[in-house]
Amino acid sequence: MNFRLRSFHFHSSSEEATLRFGRALGAVLAPGTAVLLSGGLGAGKTLLARGIGEALGAARVRSPSFTLVNEYPASACTLVHVDLYRLEPEDVENLGLQDYLDDLEARVLLVEWPERWETLREGDVRDVLKIAIETVGETSRVFRISSSGAKADGALRDLRRALSVQERS
Ligand SMILES: Nc1ncnc2c1ncn2[C@@H]1O[C@H](COP(=O)(O)OP(=O)(O)O)[C@@H](O)[C@H]1O
Ligand SMILES: [Mg+2]
Repeated sequence: MNFRLRSFHFHSSSEEATLRFGRALGAVLAPGTAVLLSGGLGAGKTLLARGIGEALGAARVRSPSFTLVNEYPASACTLVHVDLYRLEPEDVENLGLQDYLDDLEARVLLVEWPERWETLREGDVRDVLKIAIETVGETSRVFRISSSGAKADGALRDLRRALSVQERS
């Protein structure tokens, strides 16, 4: 999928900075949004998801590598966290992720290894934030974020604003 509407990048130089970034993102995310988290093993996808979960008022987010799908009731929505790392394309199809997309209104869907979801098409979900994480050093990460859909565009704009305030304070 290609989302060229809006994008920016954020640099994190520590685990804590990534968590703060995740909290800032969680604070602006609206239910009905899918967040696609790509990046290699240890990039910080789950850590980012934990920050998002904290801001949404969910229980502590843990890696869904073994459970595949975790659902966390949160304040204003249910956070659904999926890790497709170990899955073959046909296993991904059997997870029923399409059902989440069809009924996303009261949920935020976070997907690690979204490239494994081969049948996902741009038109399947209205509001998407795509985050590609690049490991540039032991504790150094670059997050490239782009959005598609009015709600996701709004979240991206608010996130940008919140981060620039964070930087100035
Ligand atoms: N700036 C950073 N942001 C995120 N994680 C970092 C950073 N620096 C070091 N790390 C380490 O990288 C690992 C990221 O783990 P995790 O979030 O589980 O990655 P993933 O889910 O992408 O495989 C953790 O061990 C964390 O301590
Ligand atoms: Mg992970």
